[in-house]
Amino acid sequence: MPQLIADRAVLRMTSELGQVMAAACARELAGERVLHLERGEPDFGTPPHIVEALSTAARAGETHYPDARGTIQLREALVEKLTRENGIACHPDDVVVTAGGTHALFLAFQGLLSGGEEVLVLSPHWMAIPKLVGFAHGASYRTLPAYLELGAESITPADFAARLRDALRPGTRGIYVNTPNNPTGVVLSWTQLEAITQVAIERDLWVISDEAYEHLLFDGAKHVSLASLPGMPERTLSVFTFSKSYAMTGWRVGYVVSPPALRPVMGPLLSFYTTHGVFPSVQSAALAALRGPQDAVETMRRAYQERRDLLISGLEGQSAIRIPRPLGAFYAFADVSGALAARNSEALWALVHDWLSLGVAVLPGIAFGPEYVDRVRLSLATRREDITEAARRLQTQFAGAAPRGSR
Ligand SMILES: Cc1ncc(COP(=O)(O)O)c(C=O)c1O
Repeated sequence: MPQLIADRAVLRMTSELGQVMAAACARELAGERVLHLERGEPDFGTPPHIVEALSTAARAGETHYPDARGTIQLREALVEKLTRENGIACHPDDVVVTAGGTHALFLAFQGLLSGGEEVLVLSPHWMAIPKLVGFAHGASYRTLPAYLELGAESITPADFAARLRDALRPGTRGIYVNTPNNPTGVVLSWTQLEAITQVAIERDLWVISDEAYEHLLFDGAKHVSLASLPGMPERTLSVFTFSKSYAMTGWRVGYVVSPPALRPVMGPLLSFYTTHGVFPSVQSAALAALRGPQDAVETMRRAYQERRDLLISGLEGQSAIRIPRPLGAFYAFADVSGALAARNSEALWALVHDWLSLGVAVLPGIAFGPEYVDRVRLSLATRREDITEAARRLQTQFAGAAPRGSR
């Protein structure tokens, strides 16, 4: 029997999201009402002018093989956006339009990692990262806890840089950074990012900067793109997507900006031989998203912020669930140690199933890194009524309750 790609341990790992969704679905089939706080998908429709642009483009015949790097019109518009909003100066030849941010990350890891090399993943991290790295043959990843302490400012940038230096190994080729962060909602500051860049420059590392949630910021938080810092354009691959900002998850369109040294790799090789580019009409719709009115982005941002506030105020007055206030993305990474009998994955799964029996679906923290055995992720990408009701059910359960198993 030949060795299959799926035999690699990391690719065989089951998905926590799949498990929770299956359990939630079984309950719904049995007639129960489940509040879905486990999914990371905007519940809004794509703004109508973007849908219209797709239809117009398809009717006009934009249905043939695209330039695998993306249409020049879209790449030029992206260069303008990157310069204006992100402070990233780049050339259209260094921008590749991809089938969503996931594909952009796949290309980045394929382009950078060889056998025996590893990427250091700041954690907690988006759950797809281990597998996306695992597809790069012989490459591996290690996690380094970062966002909770950086978010709480309980570690200084200098101490964080020292932690980063200590974590590097001879085979470490790059660092994966995600701000605003899924699942914590932490938004890294310029000084915190600068600490990462110092180490990257010193040790000649690549940085993969995942900026999927760049527009989802609360309380006036500012997003800083890593590639806008001195010395970083030549070593950063910046990943963006239309999925979250414009509620375009199903359209599969995103982009990656990489240094000129990677020009022969990203578009002509990796994009050409994986998807051969993105449906041209979708690219015209993405152009309409970029150039058209941005009020829908702001409406959705406000809605997520309002839901965050509803969740936090709905859980006030109990100590079993504590939520560090997210400043971006659309998740809360709750500390549930006060509701756990033990700090291990079995106890955490038991809690997730208990909450499911209350009709509240969430993801266990271990989906985002093995060390998060006392956390759960609650998504704000669901109707405000459902957030309020979920908070009410949890509040009823935990008001005045002692930790699980202590009675
Ligand atoms: C941190 C992060 N990066 C990238 C993505 C990729 O999104 P998409 O492939 O829809 O663009 C996601 C999706 O949830 C994400 O959470």
